[in-house]
Amino acid sequence: MQFQLQKYSSVDSTNAVAHRMAEQGAEEGIVVVADRQTGGHGRMQRVWSSPVGGLWFSLILRPQIDPRYVAQITLLAGVAVAKTLRNLYQTDEIRIKWPNDLLLEDKKVTGILAEMQLTENQDVDYVIVGIGVNVDPPMDDMPEEVKAKAESLNRSLDKFYSCETVLDAILKEFSKTYQMWQQDGNEAVLSLWKEMNCTLGKRVTVLDEDREVFSGTAVALDAEGALLVQNEAGREASFNFGEISIQYGK
Ligand code: BTN
Repeated sequence: MQFQLQKYSSVDSTNAVAHRMAEQGAEEGIVVVADRQTGGHGRMQRVWSSPVGGLWFSLILRPQIDPRYVAQITLLAGVAVAKTLRNLYQTDEIRIKWPNDLLLEDKKVTGILAEMQLTENQDVDYVIVGIGVNVDPPMDDMPEEVKAKAESLNRSLDKFYSCETVLDAILKEFSKTYQMWQQDGNEAVLSLWKEMNCTLGKRVTVLDEDREVFSGTAVALDAEGALLVQNEAGREASFNFGEISIQYGK
């Protein structure tokens, strides 16, 4: 895939900028990257703190697929970023928490927000993959709730990578993984996801907004990326990551 970088010093949200560009017909491979975001957001409309020092970017894709397969792109993005960071930082301790948060020792180091736009005919028009990597944001200045849950990669792993280096490496890996997925389907992505995940086998509580809807053991990931959870009574329920999130250990 050919990437074309559009760099900004400050934007509301790189996902929002990418949406606006895609609406104007921007092609696949455009990457919107900003030093800081004033309105960065995550899944479930959560605020995503995005000061200078982190890597905040969004990729425009135009896959010709059925909309029900778009969730696979979120998983493949998680796989590509996890592989990149493991290689760069030389650690297998970076793991994927379902669906695609990257954790380092229980602290979040990357979040991914994929958003799809359909045409009037309900085909996929474009997909925006927004990725936030805590390369080296000033953790001391972060809000308390972020400090409790997130960590800077450089600081934790004692490396000094620039955001440009990390972006370059992620784009190379993303391109390879995307190509593999287009040629060979989702199997290989799922098996890499399973290899690097820290969710399967764990006790989880499924949350809709902040309401607990189901507790049990995460037993499997289905072909579309939904998480299968089994409770103590043996009842199984499958959860799609568009609507819910999970917490561990209940
Ligand atoms: C999450 O963990 O809930 C997803 C966080 C995604 C954050 C990235 S930063 C770049 C892009 N722009 C945004 O506003 N969000 C994504």
